[in-house]
Amino acid sequence: MNTCTRFLTLAAAVVSLAAVPPALADTVLRVFAGGPQQRTDLTRKMFDEYEKSHPGVKINLESGGATSELQRQYLSTVLGAKDSSLDVLILDIINPAQYYAAGWIEPLNGYLGVKDAKAYMSKYLPAYATADVIDGKVVALPDFADAMFLYYRKDLLDKYGVRPPTTWNDLATVSEKIQQGEKNPNLQGLSFQGAPIEGAVCTFLLPYWSQGKDYQKGVKLDKKAAVNGLDMWLGMVDKGVAKKNIAEVKTGDTVNEFMAGHVVFAINWGFAWDLFQTDAKSKVKGNVGVAKLPAMQGGQPVTCIGGWQWSVSAFSKNKAEAAKLVQFMSSPDVSKYLSINGSLLPVYANVYSDPAVLKVNPWYGLALPVVESAKSRPVTERYAEVSDVVRTQTSAALARVQKPEATVDEIDNRLSRAMR
Ligand code: GLC
Repeated sequence: MNTCTRFLTLAAAVVSLAAVPPALADTVLRVFAGGPQQRTDLTRKMFDEYEKSHPGVKINLESGGATSELQRQYLSTVLGAKDSSLDVLILDIINPAQYYAAGWIEPLNGYLGVKDAKAYMSKYLPAYATADVIDGKVVALPDFADAMFLYYRKDLLDKYGVRPPTTWNDLATVSEKIQQGEKNPNLQGLSFQGAPIEGAVCTFLLPYWSQGKDYQKGVKLDKKAAVNGLDMWLGMVDKGVAKKNIAEVKTGDTVNEFMAGHVVFAINWGFAWDLFQTDAKSKVKGNVGVAKLPAMQGGQPVTCIGGWQWSVSAFSKNKAEAAKLVQFMSSPDVSKYLSINGSLLPVYANVYSDPAVLKVNPWYGLALPVVESAKSRPVTERYAEVSDVVRTQTSAALARVQKPEATVDEIDNRLSRAMR
């Protein structure tokens, strides 16, 4: 190669470097965004918006894990191996305590310019401000809020002249009346989650909490109240209100069966409303009501707090960019978009009364006080263990593999260390 050719080759190389398409120079953020119940389709749309306003950033969305505990297992494997391939993670409200204690998620104070975590988080609903701040560190920012509600068939309740029940006993009575009247052997009175999934932890706790009891680190399980709670659910099966194989029912089964018109009352989370109203398969559009969950006789109505948060992996190589995306995903605009398009509950109190949001979610007036007063599953860095024991034992009791008394003893014994 003579000098001239060498120069031309070098010049061409320089030109081609300058002409590197922007895509090659991008920061690529890899995001674990959960499964269908976290509405990854809507998340992707928000990521598209973010990419448009941040030309240097590309976002790869990874989805997976139909249920919360499957996602926890997956993330525990990836993060336990200090794998740097994920930058941003969606987390169920029960997980930040464990993930932060394990050193898997990055405190965000420095990236967000937070001086006082409590003051910074005061714009969000209190449950999230609490769950996402640990030792004065903001460890995640809320995406959407959640709680369990009682969905009911407005048309059927109207037909039989009954109001939404306020106690579980009432619910059984009303259900029996409607089931007998409809003469449809496939019509279930109540669908709830008895499969050994994360939601079954709430199934166990709902009637227990309703008796004024709590179960947290340092607060012992009240065995009598826990047995009463399991007996209440089993009574629903005995009366033919809930189906016999309730121990196999997952969140999505309840949604599908209610949507198909096979259920009078359903316990489910916020995302279900949108499916009931807009899913092509829904036969109950326009006929759905939402109420607070009923209480135990003589007890208080209570529900289980849920919700999802965005966090930055402690092993990410793009933490600053990742934190910016997390901040965007936790903004009031995104919250409004998710509630209008997916009925995912807002994490900002004022979004509940936004006219555009209320138009598609007329039940949000009721939802806000329910979310604000919802109770937390045990908050502990050993939550994975707590969840495993409570959900598998609860499901075994509902499958009648084990008596309620033995189930409650088992939960109490096996978790005595974790809950101390
Ligand atoms: C919902 C809730 C979440 C809960 C899960 C259980 O996604 O938001 O907190 O753990 O359901 O199935």
